[in-house]
Amino acid sequence: MDKRIALLDSGTGHCKSLSTGRIIAFLSLFVVSALFTTGLHFETSNFQARIQHVPINAQQILRKCAALKVRPGPPEGFQHRAVSDRYDFGTPSTLITNARIWTGEHNGTEILFGDLLLDNGIIKAVGYVPEDLLSTTTNLTIVDAQGAWVTPGLVDLHSHVGMLSAPLLAGVIDVNSPKGPILPWLRSIDGFNTHDESIRLAMAGGITTAQVLPGSSNAIGGQAFMMKLRKTPERSPSSMILEPPHTLNGTDNGPNLTPRWRHMKQACGENLIRHGTRMDAVWSFRAAYEEARKIKAAQDKYCEDVEAGTWNSREDFPESLQWEMLVDVLRGRVKISNHCYEAVDLDNIVRLTNEFHFPIASFHHASEAWLVPDVLKRTWGGTPAAAIFATNHRYKRESYRGSEYAARVLADNNIPVVMKSDHPVLNSRYLLYEAQQAHYFGLPYNLALASVTSVPATIAGLDHRIGFIRQGADADIVLWDSHPLHLGATSVGIWIDGIAQIPIPSKAGENAGLVDIGKCKEGQTWLNLPQVPVWDEERQKAVHWDGLPPLEPISQRKQVVFVNVKELWIKGERGIEEINLSDDQQKGQTIVAIKDGHIVCAGITSTCESVVAELETSIEFIDLHNGTISPGLMSYGSPLGLEEIAGEPSTGNGPLHDSFLADVPSILGDAGGLVRAVDALQFSTRNALTAYRAGVTSATSSLFKRTLFDGASPSFSGLSTTFRTGSRHILDKGALIQEVAALHVSIGRPHPLASKSGKKIISISEQIAILRRLLLDPGSQETLTGQWFKKASQGTIPLVIEVHSADIMASLLLLKKEVQRAHGSALRLIFAGASEAHILAEEIGEADVGVIINPARPYPGEWDQRRILPGPPLSNDTQAVTLIRNGVLVALGVPEAWAARNARFDMAWASLESHGKIDQRQAYALVTTNLDRMLGVEDVDLDLVAYDGGSVFDMSSKVAAVISSQRGMVDIL
Ligand SMILES: *[C@@H]1O[C@H](CO)[C@@H](O)[C@H](O)[C@H]1NC(C)=O
Ligand SMILES: *[C@@H]1O[C@H](CO)[C@@H](O)[C@H](O)[C@H]1NC(C)=O
Ligand SMILES: *[C@@H]1O[C@H](CO)[C@@H](O)[C@H](O)[C@H]1NC(C)=O
Repeated sequence: MDKRIALLDSGTGHCKSLSTGRIIAFLSLFVVSALFTTGLHFETSNFQARIQHVPINAQQILRKCAALKVRPGPPEGFQHRAVSDRYDFGTPSTLITNARIWTGEHNGTEILFGDLLLDNGIIKAVGYVPEDLLSTTTNLTIVDAQGAWVTPGLVDLHSHVGMLSAPLLAGVIDVNSPKGPILPWLRSIDGFNTHDESIRLAMAGGITTAQVLPGSSNAIGGQAFMMKLRKTPERSPSSMILEPPHTLNGTDNGPNLTPRWRHMKQACGENLIRHGTRMDAVWSFRAAYEEARKIKAAQDKYCEDVEAGTWNSREDFPESLQWEMLVDVLRGRVKISNHCYEAVDLDNIVRLTNEFHFPIASFHHASEAWLVPDVLKRTWGGTPAAAIFATNHRYKRESYRGSEYAARVLADNNIPVVMKSDHPVLNSRYLLYEAQQAHYFGLPYNLALASVTSVPATIAGLDHRIGFIRQGADADIVLWDSHPLHLGATSVGIWIDGIAQIPIPSKAGENAGLVDIGKCKEGQTWLNLPQVPVWDEERQKAVHWDGLPPLEPISQRKQVVFVNVKELWIKGERGIEEINLSDDQQKGQTIVAIKDGHIVCAGITSTCESVVAELETSIEFIDLHNGTISPGLMSYGSPLGLEEIAGEPSTGNGPLHDSFLADVPSILGDAGGLVRAVDALQFSTRNALTAYRAGVTSATSSLFKRTLFDGASPSFSGLSTTFRTGSRHILDKGALIQEVAALHVSIGRPHPLASKSGKKIISISEQIAILRRLLLDPGSQETLTGQWFKKASQGTIPLVIEVHSADIMASLLLLKKEVQRAHGSALRLIFAGASEAHILAEEIGEADVGVIINPARPYPGEWDQRRILPGPPLSNDTQAVTLIRNGVLVALGVPEAWAARNARFDMAWASLESHGKIDQRQAYALVTTNLDRMLGVEDVDLDLVAYDGGSVFDMSSKVAAVISSQRGMVDIL
């Protein structure tokens, strides 16, 4: 710089002088500098004063400088556009009539009853559609909503759809670059797989827009894009982007283009460990932002000079393709989604924003945001939103203090709440379920609906197009079969850019197009907002205890009288049975009296008077407010009770040796290396106690484990055990329900990342060959393997096989026959996982094989799981319906321990999406008696759970107490 001469430095070269003709224009700034470095001595002050040496592209530079100051957003007059840029020519217009329209306006409280006109990809009228508007609309389709709810299309602010595809294959994992930690120049769009099966599935859940984020393994993972989840005629990723930034394809210098918001992913904490510690990560941020700050300062100086007419910079406008994104961040033109869990990490990033002066749009996961609201409020440029999960917590240390009450606490602190999926961590298709749970745990209904629509849309800077039902917005609309905050709410109509998406294009095996949704949801109840419990005490306690409130029972009583009990269900001879508490003629409160953990009287007050009088004075009365007492649920399938934090090996059982690969220590004296889960049981884990408090009183756990990035644990997962989730330790009375429940094996194809990570793998053919050998010839009875495989082959213990592929299940059915022929005994075979079991429903039924569906709602995450039966609105039947119809004994499982608590929702959902083909009693059996029967759990008369304010099926109820006959007491929770 210093070597260059101040030739043009006269201070008179304003923009308008460019057209005066007095100027000597040079072909390029390079020529300017080359000429005048050698021409220094020709300079005179006169010469300087008279002649302005301005570059030929000066106009362009000045425009560029002016553009730097423009805030992104909708261009002027946007709301009056006649046609959407996303409109597909030939799309008919749609008039939706008689709808209950949740618009998102007025803080999510506005509800209109009326009509909606979608035309040219735009919402043309809301509530009332003027006649003259209708008369000018051609090609009109009319949809009578018959009073059903309509919401804006859902917006998933945190998704890896297209980046971590379904099914996951080694060739389509494009989520994290190994070249970090600072990569603001990468763009998620460059890795977007349009063939990801979950695009269609998410859309079926009402998700019309998703923010496609790079992963969180890097401090700055790259640029993100808001994508509409509709296949376009062009079939390209580009055509799915909503408001692509003009820089994306180099059209950024258009003179009249208002810049569009850009989006970027940042992360902090544990996931950056591959690049060093937290201290290293923060330095990497600071170094990067310092680089950007210098470039921004140089640009600002440059622009200040040229705008003042000082064309003395003979260099190009200071720019860097690598750093331009961060410069835009510093100019406040980027919506940052920052993955950040803990107080320390949130504090670090907030400090960074104040050091370099840039805003954060949203903190994601943000497990501790609810505990440090003041930290968030210190963020430079305004308080970010918190984008969180409802109940997916404790899966790693950073999420240990995450809470179901967080959404409400954040809202109470005026922090915008977003519920997100982190798809495929949670299946984006069930994003609305996150809002339903947040509502259940105390988030007001208006904010719950807003958390998956208007709030994420606003946070992304796209509220002029999505997240609201307002005139001029994009025509992204979902019609629901119930109030959207009811569990199991299902889309019956979806429009994206005004284009009808239902029926959703079907795949082989599905029967889309014939979907008869909404049966059994007739009546006003389903249209009304679901009532939910009050959690004020629990919430205050959670905050008081820094996110780790004690979960043990508040007290234990021998004698309790439950008052206002609407229903009493017990496990009887024929499964779940209801006990009549009063016939219609009888008047009076219904009560259930408990003595030493046993029901001593159940009926109306007068019937039980004498029994109650006999009880001691230390009796406690609990009003259940029309609640229900019913059997405790059982959790199956996760490592519940075998680990505290899934991502922390030091809190669990540790890795299993893989006997199929022969690396079992020889000192075990058993080549099979068969081990017992009971030996590794740990009690009072937060997941187990949380499940207990949600009515899940027992669990059967094996050493099997499946994770997103590692797949399934070794083939031999040992002997499972059944235990009480509420016990303090294994020696506690009643803690152990069944020392050994079943023998577990898993058979499946290698995980797509197995070969990349150097993990040893074994073929399907070998896996089945080993199983055949062990069942036909169990070997030495001196070893556990020999003993238990003998029992399995004789049918004295169930053999549970974790398997998803229908082809592998078919091979196993053949193997079952072969073993039975050889031994003359019946194998008690159970398929767990079983994503493709519906394909073999008849054969599985005939073979008398039980099926534990896990996860309860299918997702084609791996190749072996790809042929799911998705359920409504994609298919009439669900997997459970198909299996039950074919006489199969069915149960539901959960893959991860945090989800054990949601068994009650899983079972209710199974009934809700069955069109009445699975009634409540059958649904109840899916997580109780059917598991007992399959696993041979003998102590059927275990715990009863008292629900306050409704039944186990209602969102209005919560668990008040657990009645334990075996332990002779009642736990008050
Ligand atoms: C009317 O809509 C149909 C699809 O329903 C489409 O095929 C046709 O091209 C449309 N006609 C016009 C004139 O846009
Ligand atoms: C929005 O609604 C919530 C919950 O109903 C309420 O607490 C909050 O004050 C409202 N905000 C505004 C700006 O009205
Ligand atoms: C560049 O992107 C814009 C959308 O932002 C689009 O209108 C334009 O056609 C694209 N240009 C090319 C050459 O692809």
